[in-house]
Amino acid sequence: MNGSPLILDRAELDDRAEFREAVLTGLSSTPRAIPAKFLYDARGSALFDAICELPEYYLTRTETEILRRHADDIATLAGPGCALVEFGSGSSVKSRLLIEALQDLSAYVPIDISRQHLDATANRLRRDYPRLKVEPACADYMALAHLPDDVSAANHRIGFFPGSTIGNLLPVEATAFLRRARGLLGEEGAMVLGADLKKDPRRLHDAYNDSAGVTAQFTLNLLRRMNRELEANFDLAAFAHEAFYNPVEGRIEIYFRSLKPQTVTVAGRSFAFAEGERVHTEYSYKYDDAGIATLARSAGFTVAQTWTDPARQFAVVYLVAP
Ligand code: AVJ
Repeated sequence: MNGSPLILDRAELDDRAEFREAVLTGLSSTPRAIPAKFLYDARGSALFDAICELPEYYLTRTETEILRRHADDIATLAGPGCALVEFGSGSSVKSRLLIEALQDLSAYVPIDISRQHLDATANRLRRDYPRLKVEPACADYMALAHLPDDVSAANHRIGFFPGSTIGNLLPVEATAFLRRARGLLGEEGAMVLGADLKKDPRRLHDAYNDSAGVTAQFTLNLLRRMNRELEANFDLAAFAHEAFYNPVEGRIEIYFRSLKPQTVTVAGRSFAFAEGERVHTEYSYKYDDAGIATLARSAGFTVAQTWTDPARQFAVVYLVAP
């Protein structure tokens, strides 16, 4: 949560260059959009953790409860001796539920783009599970080409993609991601996927418009990050978080909206905003059983098992490659 260090290492310079390119491209496009992954700097990640604790944000709590309740069922389907491959090493609470339930786990492979995040996760797990082989892979899981050699040699590999992160992806991207994951996991492989379910739009709306305003801070943190890292001059009081459910597309759409006509400088370039003009930051797709089945099939998987909570708010599915 600290400010800019004075000296940046190579990886930080690369990250910053990538952020600058994405922002300049995104603000020059019609409609304007900035990819959701840039929401997660240190402050953004901390704000997301706070979102997960909000009374309105049922997703994390519900999924964790489903996993807690059904970890043994997942372990039975997976069988003994598998390797667990997590795409984007998120909340270790969920990974731990599977690590503890799976029998004779041969390795745990967290894949994450952030070296720092990855090392911290790996170290904590090695400390808490001294007999577990932890083999982190620092990579963008959307682009990862192969797993560590000995993991590829394991008889079967179980993927884990929790948290409704799949919802951030457009349907075509979700299919491409799952198809790639299927390739990495192999013919014997399986995937444990968490997806948020369609429900009362009011409930969905509230989950992204919390009364404490944490989600708004999360969205507006992107402006703060541009100010800090790209020498931008966004006035945070002159923009607002906007999130609503689009029932036709079955997704929450999130934007920041200009509250007045204004011009903002970013990395030496000027961008004019009309009053009410929006910049898209996130989609959060909501699925139903049929949608999950279609998505799985489009990537060469089939749904072997679905677990939900009693109120059917969230689904954890076990996909196999037939
Ligand atoms: C981390 C993508 C699952 O879509 O619910 C939460 C992100 N954005 N509140 C979601 C998010 C605003 C979250 N995911």
